[in-house]
Order: sequence, then C-alpha cells, then structure tokens
Amino acid sequence: MTLDKLGRELRDLRISVTDRCNFRCFFCLPDGESYEFFRREEILSLEEIVKFTKAVLPLGIKKVRLTGGEPLLRRSIETLIEKLSELPIEDLSLTTNGFLLKGKAKTLKLAGLKRITVSLPSLKDEVLSRMVGRDVKASWVVEGIEAALREGLNPVKVNVCVVRGINDSEIVDIAKFFKERGVVVRFIEFMDVGNLNNWSLDKVFSVREMLNLLMKHFDLEPVEKSYKGEVAERYRYKDDGLEVGFISSITQPFCGDCNRLRLTADGRLLTCLFAHEGYSIKSLLRSGAHEEDIRAFVINLWSKREDRYSEERLELIRRGVKPKKIEMFKVGG
Ligand code: GTP
Ligand code: 5AD
Ligand code: SF4
Ligand code: SF4
Repeated sequence: MTLDKLGRELRDLRISVTDRCNFRCFFCLPDGESYEFFRREEILSLEEIVKFTKAVLPLGIKKVRLTGGEPLLRRSIETLIEKLSELPIEDLSLTTNGFLLKGKAKTLKLAGLKRITVSLPSLKDEVLSRMVGRDVKASWVVEGIEAALREGLNPVKVNVCVVRGINDSEIVDIAKFFKERGVVVRFIEFMDVGNLNNWSLDKVFSVREMLNLLMKHFDLEPVEKSYKGEVAERYRYKDDGLEVGFISSITQPFCGDCNRLRLTADGRLLTCLFAHEGYSIKSLLRSGAHEEDIRAFVINLWSKREDRYSEERLELIRRGVKPKKIEMFKVGG
C-alpha cells in the first residue's frame, strides 16, 4: 500500500546520520549552551539505516536526503551512500555545511551521490564566522561548492538562512555571486527550530521582503511547483533560466501538503520538524523485525499524524505557549 491512497502522501525521507557538527551556527546550535550528543552505541548502524530505508521505500518515497548535524562527519558516509544508491531512490541528496566538501566531493560522487546542498549564510568572513560560531573563510566553503560542481553533483544548491540585521543586506550579492556560477540559491526565513536559538519574530526577514529586493536587481518569473508539497517557492532568472528558491515557513506556512518523514541518528521518527521526542524505531530494527513490520509501524504513525506546527506557530506565540521542540542539529532540517 502507498500512503497517498490514504490521502497522506509520504514522499520525502530525511535521514540524520549524526548529531555532531563542526559548526555552531547561532540559528541552530548556539555556542555557549551545553549539549548532549548521542553516544556511539545509541546511533543506528549503516546497516540499520539501509534496512529502514529499504523497508519504507515502497510507501511512495521518491527523495532521500542525508543530514546531520554535519553528515560528512559520519565515518563511512560514503559506504552508506554506496548502499543507498543501490536502492530505487529517484533523488538521493545530502545537506552539508561545506567545510569538508572540498576534500570529499570526489568520493561522494564516486559513492553514488547525485546532488548536494551546501549551507552558506554569508560571503563575508566576519559575518560568516559570527553566524557559524567558528573562524571560517567563505572562500573555503566556496571552493567546496566548486569541487562539487566539478564532480557533477548537480544541481548544487546553496541554503541561506536569512536573519534580519545580520545577513539580509547580502541577499542581492549572494544571489549575484551564485548566479554567475550556475548554483541554485534557497533563501530561508529564520525559523524557531529547537529551544535554544533565541528566535524572535522581529529577526525574521520575510520571503516577500527578499523578493522585493531581488526584483529590483533581476528579472524574475515564478516557476510552477514541480510536485505537491514542494517546500521552496521557485523563481527563474529570465536571462539565463537559472532558478532561485524561497522557503517561507514563517510567513507562508506550507503544512497542508507536508510529506516529509525524518529519522534521527538515534533511530527516532519525527513527523514534523518541530516535533519533540518522536517515536523510536530502534528496538524494532534491532529485534530483527521484517520489512513488513517496519512498514506497518510507519503506516500507523503516518496515518495518525496531525502536524501543522508552522500554521499554529503565531497563535501559540500569542497565547504564550512554548512547546518543547527537537533541536535542529538532531533532526537535520
Ligand atoms: P530540494 O530537494 O533540493 O528541493 O530541497 P528542499 O526543498 O527539500 O530543501 P532542503 O532540504 O534544502 O530544505 C531547506 C530548508 O527548508 C530546511 O533546511 C529547513 O530549514 C526548511 N524545511 C525543509 N523542510 C521543511 C518542512 O517540512 N517544514 C519546515 N517548516 N521547514 C522545512
Ligand atoms: N532557520 C532556518 N534555517 C535553518 N537552518 C538551520 N537552522 C535554521 C533556522 N533556525 C538551515 C541551515 C541548513 C539547513 C539544515 O537548515 O542553513 O541549510
Ligand atoms: Fe551544524 Fe548545520 Fe546546525 Fe550549522 S545548521 S550548526 S552546520 S547542523
Ligand atoms: Fe511539515 Fe511540520 Fe514543517 Fe508543517 S511545520 S511543513 S507539518 S514539518
């Protein structure tokens, strides 16, 4: 059975392979807080991740994205990609902060990765370092992006989390810089993920504002959604046809068509980016369960879900309700 027959499509599986990260982005894993990371024995083995993926693919999953923390810190990430690329997945991708990408682009491609998304919120060293909580030169990450382009990890996309007063003044420059390189940029509204990132509504620079800015400099036209539940609002530069995307989870939520299931590194399933604990599938995976048992678990979970956090957010804020949420580095975005 596929879940779209139940009127609840499950299209996109996002697998966090580690909660460790070599960055401390203030919008995700702010420095100075104390964190508990998973212990090695808590995290799923590569075989367990593959077993889970294989079991749920027949439910209609087209996209699998590997995330973290920073997924390139997971030892043997290439082995995992090799195993996953043998499965019938239409779209296998990975999201990275790009710090290790220059050295890894080739082996990732050889392992069977199709494409890659790199998070890079600023092209200015000082701003970037402040945003990611360590000294990083933007050119280092850009070299990683260029290595990915050379290896054909196409399309290479860049995620830019925009925070008012920090990097909103760079939107046009970032767009221009990557347009020249044929790289698709996604501008993302700063979100209230987790409990630690000091989010407030006044720090959100809306997609409407981003578009107004960009339209002053570029000739853009909207692109039709390519499937139901697509998260980014896509536009195209009229001169070269390159796309640019906007993710407006705060000002224009898109929960209605949400079709994403997230698996944490320690084997919990979350039916929303803003969920709290999730549902552990680890003991089922470790008890030698059959694929049908794993599928039954997911079907049960998915058919009962009622998540719509982004649509409820403003009302919760108004009422002063602060639900506990999983941190971004544990769920992978
Ligand atoms: P493509 O597969 O390349 O189209 O990427 P995508 O649209 O799935 O975007 P990506 O995985 O790069 O996600 C970009 C960012 O959008 C994430 O890191 C999150 O910050 C945000 N995002 C992704 N999915 C969701 C979602 O289901 N809900 C909310 N609220 N935000 C999301
Ligand atoms: N708001 C918006 N985007 C975020 N990301 C991480 N934290 C936030 C946040 N609070 C983005 C990163 C990366 C992806 C995993 O999520 O930039 O691209
Ligand atoms: Fe690490 Fe990504 Fe979180 Fe930044 S957003 S701290 S790179 S997991
Ligand atoms: Fe889906 Fe939750 Fe994001 Fe809404 S807030 S789109 S339900 S993940």
